[in-house]
Amino acid sequence: QTYRVVIPAAGAGKRMGADRNKLMLLLRDRSIIEWTLDVFEADPLCEEIILAINPAEQVWFEQVTDRYATPVRLVAGGRERQESVLRGLEVIEAPGIVLIHDGARPFIEQTAIHAVVAAAVEHKAAILAVPVKDTVKRITGATIVETVPRDELMAAQTPQAFDLDTIRTVHQKAAEHYLGTDDASLIEWDGGKVTLVTGQYENIKVTTPDDLWFGEAILMKRGK
Ligand code: CTP
Ligand code: MG
Repeated sequence: QTYRVVIPAAGAGKRMGADRNKLMLLLRDRSIIEWTLDVFEADPLCEEIILAINPAEQVWFEQVTDRYATPVRLVAGGRERQESVLRGLEVIEAPGIVLIHDGARPFIEQTAIHAVVAAAVEHKAAILAVPVKDTVKRITGATIVETVPRDELMAAQTPQAFDLDTIRTVHQKAAEHYLGTDDASLIEWDGGKVTLVTGQYENIKVTTPDDLWFGEAILMKRGK
């Protein structure tokens, strides 16, 4: 089953605290966004990559995406991740399966992509997620309100895979009414069902400076 992928890459990377978009930072010989794009480029089932970017960074992204054989379309992102994803969904013409994958998750592997695609073919909406390792507390200020039973918790990752028409419709509906930190939450908000596929802990979102060191360790483990 072939698919298209929307990759939001238009963030500022505030929590990384670098002097540029964190996706431009190097891990070994490549920028983080290149590690991400390389995985989809290498996947024969990926028909098209739609990359949502900050227009101020267009020249940089054009230079990077020049070398890819898979068609890459650059679209202007928005103020929030959700808006960037919607801008990407809006330019897709053909129906089918669409993946939404954070530009900041460069360690995704093809087997996990294919597993979430297969689940979306069957259920229309599916995401990768991993069991939460920490004990999680609900708080107000610095005080604990309760401990959330850990066996009820999964940490959501991307890619999240959907039937295009289903996700685009809820994105358009949510635009003025609901702001989520992932795309599955829009389906949930609309009363729909989302299937979980267990992913891998290595599929981290590079968010803070520590994550660059975790990333180095992951590459080392993979012999890269
Ligand atoms: N993203 C986007 N458009 C936005 C905000 C985020 O396309 N307006 C993208 C980021 O580039 C990233 C992904 O969404 O690939 C996940 O977001 P996050 O990890 O939060 O990245 P940033 O928003 O860049 O980082 P921060 O929140 O620390 O500023
Ligand atoms: Mg952000």
